[in-house]
Amino acid sequence: MTRQRIVSGQQLPEDEPSRQGASPLRPKRLAEYIGQSELVEKLQISVQAAKARHEAMEHVLLHGPPGLGKTTLAHIISEELNAGAPKMTSGPALARPTDLVSMLTNIRDGEVLFIDEIHRMPAAVEEYLYSAMEDFAIDVVTGGGTHADSLHIDLAPFTLIGATTRAGLLSGPMRSRFGIVHHLNFYSPADLLTIVKRSAQLLELPADAEALTLVAQRARGTPRVANRILRRVRDFALVRGQGRLTLPIARDALNLEGIDELGLDALDRRFMQVLARDYDGGPAGLEALAATMGEEADTLEDVVEPFLLQTGFIRRTPKGRQLTVAAYSHLKIKPPLKPVESAADEAPLF
Ligand code: ADE
Repeated sequence: MTRQRIVSGQQLPEDEPSRQGASPLRPKRLAEYIGQSELVEKLQISVQAAKARHEAMEHVLLHGPPGLGKTTLAHIISEELNAGAPKMTSGPALARPTDLVSMLTNIRDGEVLFIDEIHRMPAAVEEYLYSAMEDFAIDVVTGGGTHADSLHIDLAPFTLIGATTRAGLLSGPMRSRFGIVHHLNFYSPADLLTIVKRSAQLLELPADAEALTLVAQRARGTPRVANRILRRVRDFALVRGQGRLTLPIARDALNLEGIDELGLDALDRRFMQVLARDYDGGPAGLEALAATMGEEADTLEDVVEPFLLQTGFIRRTPKGRQLTVAAYSHLKIKPPLKPVESAADEAPLF
């Protein structure tokens, strides 16, 4: 289904209103970056060490739900290394080894290569990346049969930044080649509020503090969602409030978008309702749920489940997804008579 959700962490065209380079709301330097403090500190040290040694920085793997800043961090790291704009590609775009080889041979000394959705890179391509990451060299097989030959190509030292929503799908050898492996967590309400305030300033949007707090509260811990909501409520402020964002305007706008007090939208609620009504609260397999809802299992796993798990509305058990008592209460549905959280279902799958 291609319906667009305002609370989706996935990138939408409206998130990049500036055609020249990155969005104006994106921080450009580590010092401007709000939240993820542990990661920022690790990166600051790696950047400084690489610059002091005049070497390429170690490779970085960032994993976590969409919209938390993986691409932004790739731009920032490249900027901090004085390496210009990062070379951008993605796992699905690297369908054949030649796609990767042409990317790698175009990289200049110290540049950053960003591979989004790195878990979707085919295994045959991944193999080439191993020696590129480890030795800055690749051996390309040319010709075939009795004419097969191997060509050794030295590469310029570079830094790979890999991003994935599914770290579990990466092979062990792939993971082990990254010096920094970091999971990006949802942002705290306080960090998200700081981001929303900064964005309102950059958008030159006069706003009441309570209105910005409401936007931050409903942005499900995700800066991309916060900024998208902010742009949406800015339109409401312009049309209904002479340009000033007030609490009633923000609340009306969010209610009209179907975003509730916790930041859940219609798709999140439908996921929980299907689990409650069609599967007695679970446990239910993801594929079965996706089929009942007419949605892609990948979409549910990447953009719906992480936040519901974080909020404590669903649990992953060895037998499938299960609704918690808190979810029934949020949906205002009576829980079934069977115990919802029995000890046997406690063991998490991951
Ligand atoms: N805009 C989006 N994400 C941000 C972050 N982490 N810090 C500052 N501004 C942001």
